[in-house]
Amino acid sequence: MNLRLKIHLASASLVLIVVIGMMSSLYISEKKQLLNEIRREQKEDLEKLRSVYEEAMALDIEISLFNYIRTLVVNPEVSYAGIVNRDGSGWIYPGTDAGSLMYVDAKDKAVQEILNSGRLMRRLSVSARGERVIEISRPLDKGSYVRLAYSRKMINALIAERLALSLKKLTGVGILAIFFGLLLAHLLSRALSKPILNLMGATAAIAKGSKGITIPEAGKDELGKLTRTFNHMSKELVKLDELKDEFMSHVTHELRSPLTSIIATVELLDEMPEAHTKPKLRRSVDRLKYGSDRLNNLVDNILDLTRMEAGKMQFDIQPVNMGTLACEMADFFEPRAMEKNLFIRAEVPETLPRAMADPERIRQVLSNLIHNAIKFTNKGGITIWVRQIDKKIQVGVQDTGVGIPKENLATVFSKFETLKDTRDRVDKPVPGSGLGLNIVLNSVQSQNGKIWVESEVKKGTTFIFELPIDEDGTTVGTKTADTKESMSSPKQDRDRGSLRQPILMNDNESEQAVQGE
Ligand SMILES: Nc1ncnc2c1ncn2[C@@H]1O[C@H](COP(=O)(O)OP(=O)(O)OP(=O)(O)O)[C@@H](O)[C@H]1O
Ligand SMILES: [Mg+2]
Repeated sequence: MNLRLKIHLASASLVLIVVIGMMSSLYISEKKQLLNEIRREQKEDLEKLRSVYEEAMALDIEISLFNYIRTLVVNPEVSYAGIVNRDGSGWIYPGTDAGSLMYVDAKDKAVQEILNSGRLMRRLSVSARGERVIEISRPLDKGSYVRLAYSRKMINALIAERLALSLKKLTGVGILAIFFGLLLAHLLSRALSKPILNLMGATAAIAKGSKGITIPEAGKDELGKLTRTFNHMSKELVKLDELKDEFMSHVTHELRSPLTSIIATVELLDEMPEAHTKPKLRRSVDRLKYGSDRLNNLVDNILDLTRMEAGKMQFDIQPVNMGTLACEMADFFEPRAMEKNLFIRAEVPETLPRAMADPERIRQVLSNLIHNAIKFTNKGGITIWVRQIDKKIQVGVQDTGVGIPKENLATVFSKFETLKDTRDRVDKPVPGSGLGLNIVLNSVQSQNGKIWVESEVKKGTTFIFELPIDEDGTTVGTKTADTKESMSSPKQDRDRGSLRQPILMNDNESEQAVQGE
C-alpha cells in the first residue's frame, strides 16, 4: 500500500470515527432530552389532576373531577387515572372494563412508600386490564394520593417515532459531514503526501544517477525543511560530482604520459630477442604487458566516461551499415574467441536500412559487449545479430556464457558494477573495472538509442541495443560495407579459414556477398 493511500485511509477513518461518534452522542442526548420532556409533560398532567381534585373537593363538585379524568383518559397514551385514600380505598378510571370505575385496595408496600415519602413516585406496573404501564403517583394533603398511568407501549411508540425523526435529520447532517470530511481528508492527504512523493521520486532519480534534481519547497513546516535540505544536498552532490570528475580527469591525464612511455618501453622489450629466449624475462615482459594494457584500458574508459558525462564527447551521427559493422567486429574479435575455443559469428539480414549513429562509437559499444561476451563465456560462442524492427535497427550480442542473475540485471549498467556471482562462474579470473557497460549505456543513449539485457544463468546473455534508421536513405545490402571504416574485410576472414560464420538470411547470396567485398 503506498503512502498516499495510507494517509487517505487514515484520514478517512478518522473522519468516519469522528462523525459517527458525534452522531451517536447527539442521538443519545436527543433521546435523553426526549425522555425528560415526556416526564415533564407527565408531571404536569399529574399536577393538573391534583389541582382539579383539590378544587373539586373544595367546591364539593366531584362531577367536574370525573369529567376531567375522562378527558385525560381519552388520550391513548394515558392508561388510567384515579384518586386513592390513605386507607387504601379509592377509585380508578377506567377499571377492568373500559368506561367503568374501579375500587382499589392499595395497601401494598409501594403505596405506603409514596405516602410516606410525600413526593412524586414513578414505577413500572400492570393495569387492571393487564396493560404494562408507567405509573406516577403523588400524595395529597389529606393522606390520599393521585395516580396516573401511561401505557408503556404507547410511550415507547411515541419515543421511537420522535427518535426516528431525529435520526433522519442526523443522518442527513452526518452524510454531509462525512462528505465534507472526506473531501478535507483527501485535500489534506494530498498536501501531506505530495512533498513526500516528490522526495521519493527525486531520491529514486538521484539513486539512478540523475544529477541536480530539486523539488518544489513545501512551506515552512518539517516537510518544507526536509525539501529544502534535500535540494541543498542535491546541489552539493552535483558540486561533489563535478569535483570528482575534475579530479578523475586530471589524474587520468597525468597518468597518460608515463603510461605511454611504459607501453612503448614494454613494446621495445618485447621486440628484444632475449625476451623470447629467456623464460624469466619473458614472464616479466608478459606481466608488464598485461598490467600496462589493463591500466591503459582503465584510463581510456575513465576519460571516455568523464567526457560523456560532461557532454563533451562529440558524436558524429551519420548513416551506418550495421550489418557490415557486425561482420567487421566478429572478424576483429575472432582471434580472441579462438584463444578460448569459442565461435564468433554475425547473423545479419540480406538487406537492411542504415542506422543513424556514430560508427566509431558503435565500434566501441560492440567492442565492449563482445569483450564481455568472450570474458564471461566458457564454452559455445558469441553471435552478433542485426535486425530491423519498424523504424529501428536492433543489434544483439548474444553469448552462451555464465549468464547474469535476475536480481543483478537492473544494476549491471551501473558504474563500477562487477558482479562477483558472475565472475566466480568463469573458468579463469577476469580483469574488469566495471566501467565498460556504463560507457555502452551512455554512448547508446547519446546516439538516441536504448539498450537492455536479457539473460539466464548458465544459459547465456544477450545485450540488445536499438538505434533509429536513416529514414531518408535507401535500404542497403550487407555486402556494401563502409569500406573505409572496415578493420578487416570478410574476405580476409574466409582466406584465413576463420571460425566466424557471417550468416545472412539468404545463405547462397550471403556467401557471394561476403566474398564480393
Ligand atoms: N556477457 C556477460 N555475461 C555475464 N556477465 C556479464 C556480461 N557482461 C557483463 N557482465 C557482468 O557485468 C559486469 C559489468 O560489466 P562491465 O563491462 O561494465 O565491467 P567489466 O567487464 O567487469 O569491466 P570493464 O568493462 O570496465 O573492463 C561484469 O563484471 C560482469 O559481472
Ligand atoms: Mg566489460
